[in-house]
Amino acid sequence: MHDPADLTTPTPPPATAAPVLLRAAGLACGYGAGAVLTGVELTLRAGDRVAVLGPNGGGKTTLFRTLLGELEPVSGTLERQARCAVVPQTERSRLDFPVSALDVALMGAVSRLPWWRRPGKADRRLARAALGQVGLAEHADRTFGDLSGGQRQRVLVARALVQDAPIVLLDEPFTGLDAVSADRLEQLLLQLADEGRGLLIATHDVEQARRWGTVLCLNKRQIAYGHADVLTRSVLEATYGGEIVDIDCAVHGHHDVVLPAHHHEH
Ligand SMILES: Nc1ncnc2c1ncn2[C@@H]1O[C@H](COP(=O)(O)OP(=O)(O)OP(=O)(O)O)[C@@H](O)[C@H]1O
Ligand SMILES: [Mg+2]
Repeated sequence: MHDPADLTTPTPPPATAAPVLLRAAGLACGYGAGAVLTGVELTLRAGDRVAVLGPNGGGKTTLFRTLLGELEPVSGTLERQARCAVVPQTERSRLDFPVSALDVALMGAVSRLPWWRRPGKADRRLARAALGQVGLAEHADRTFGDLSGGQRQRVLVARALVQDAPIVLLDEPFTGLDAVSADRLEQLLLQLADEGRGLLIATHDVEQARRWGTVLCLNKRQIAYGHADVLTRSVLEATYGGEIVDIDCAVHGHHDVVLPAHHHEH
C-alpha cells in the first residue's frame, strides 16, 4: 500500500454530478521550454474546495498562473469552462501607487465589464460589500499600501469576490492573517463553495487540507489528487521530501504527521 510506485497513479476524487469547471490532462507547466511541474491530472467541479499542498518551489504558483492563462502549458491539455479570479501570493502583489482599499476591490469589477464601461455606483456598492465580507468595511478609504500585510491580503480576497468568477484560485491566502481573520476567511471559502464555485487554495497547513476534503499534492510533479484520505505518510513524504515530523494526535484519535515550522513562516 505504501509502495512509492503507487504515487504515480492519480487518485481521482469521486465523480459527482456537479458541472466541470476546469480539466487538466497530462499538463506540464513552466516558463518557456522547461517544465517545472509535470503530470497534472485535475478535474475541478462546482462546489469543490481543493487544498493545494507542496513545498516551496513545488509548483503551486506556477500551476495557478497556467490555469489563469498567464503561462502557456508546456504540454498536455487544459480546458477551462469558466472565468477565474485569483488572490495572488502576497509578495507578488505590492501595489505601491496611492490607491485606496476600495479602488483595489473595485479592480475586480473591471474584469467583468465590457471594455467601454467604467465601474459605476452599483460596482462601488459591491466592492464595499466585499470589503465588509472580509471585515474591512471601516478601512475602505485607506491607502492600500499603508494597510498591514494581513489587511492587504484580505483586500485582495475582496477583489476576487467582486470578480464574481465561478473558479477562484487562492495562493496562500491565510499567510499573515490573525486567528479571527483566518476563521472568517475559512467561513467565506465554505460559503463560496456552497454557492457552487470551484476553489483551489494553496496552503502549507496539512490539517486545514484534511478539513477541506480534497487535496492536490505537488512536488515538481503531481504526487496525488483526491479525497484527503490520500494524505498518507508516504504521500506526505513524497510531497515534502521527507521533512515531515511525527506527532501522536490524541484529539483526532489517529497517528498524525505535521510539517516543520518553517513551512508556515513563508
Ligand atoms: N518567473 C519564473 N521564471 C523561471 N522560473 C520560475 C519563475 N517563477 C518560479 N520559477 C521556478 O518554478 C519553480 C516552482 O515555483 P513556484 O513559485 O511555482 O513554487 P511554489 O510551490 O508556489 O512555492 P512557494 O511555496 O514558495 O510559493 C521553482 O523552481 C521556481 O524557481
Ligand atoms: Mg507560490
